[in-house]
Amino acid sequence: MRLCKTVEEMRSYVNAVRAEGKTVGLVPTMGYLHQGHLSLMQEAKRRCDVVVVSIFVNPTQFGPKEDYQAYPRDLQRDAGLAAEVGVDVIFAPEVAEMYPPDFNTFVEVAEVSEPLCGASRPGHFRGVATIVTKLFNIVRPHMAFFGRKDFQQVLVIKRLVEDLNLDVNIVDLPIVREEDGLALSSRNVYLTAEERRAARVLFRSLSLARRRVAAGERNTAGLKELVEQEIRSEPLAVIDYVEILSLPRLKPLDTLQDKALLALAVRFGKTRLIDNTVLEV
Ligand code: PAJ
Repeated sequence: MRLCKTVEEMRSYVNAVRAEGKTVGLVPTMGYLHQGHLSLMQEAKRRCDVVVVSIFVNPTQFGPKEDYQAYPRDLQRDAGLAAEVGVDVIFAPEVAEMYPPDFNTFVEVAEVSEPLCGASRPGHFRGVATIVTKLFNIVRPHMAFFGRKDFQQVLVIKRLVEDLNLDVNIVDLPIVREEDGLALSSRNVYLTAEERRAARVLFRSLSLARRRVAAGERNTAGLKELVEQEIRSEPLAVIDYVEILSLPRLKPLDTLQDKALLALAVRFGKTRLIDNTVLEV
């Protein structure tokens, strides 16, 4: 497995494999890899000749009071895990390589970036859209792989690719969960043992909503209230948002029709966790 630290190294590697007629898959990550990330790499491996994983904690997608500094980092451990699943290249640039001092251009996706995490983390998706555009231009992948753990992020990236005519296929893959239902996340390492136990309420509340929908409930206000009540029954949980929005445009919805996104963000102590499920009628 190769490690590229500069844009130039990454470009010359990709030029060489593309010249051989090979297909390139990209898995963008911020590192501290877990099975959720590895599932994307495994699928990329199945579908592409060469798999590139980017590992870059992107400062522009963190707010001033967020956890950019504290975000867990361990490139050596990540490299070992990526090598085990057969990743060909890790692209791990320094911040100055991606954002030199005179950097001044940002990519903004309107509408679909605005609700949910766009509302509770202003500027977050501008940072995501900007770094992902840069990664696509540097790596020039045929396919890029994203997890539905960050469902809104997938919608933002699909919009970006369509609107800017980017020549890449976006593949989105299911959420990987712990046995008790908690979605894997690099941020789970922040949780104390008590908070970790409390965090099970997220999957429990999503499952409750799914059962209610299966039993015939169609009223989104009622479903939202049910989910909020379940989360509030856990004393360590503080709700950031619980929303049910239309797909794929993320507009408010009174009555469930077809498919809708139930998305939530909840704090446990200093840690903010997100989770979601698609409600299908
Ligand atoms: P990061 O949080 O490291 O996630 C990288 C990719 O792994 C994303 O596509 C995310 O949805 C996926 N992922 C994380 N946890 C998952 C889980 N439990 N199951 C399935 N997939 C999971 O998302 C980012 O980084 C950044 O915003 C990035 C796209 C790299 C831009 O900086």
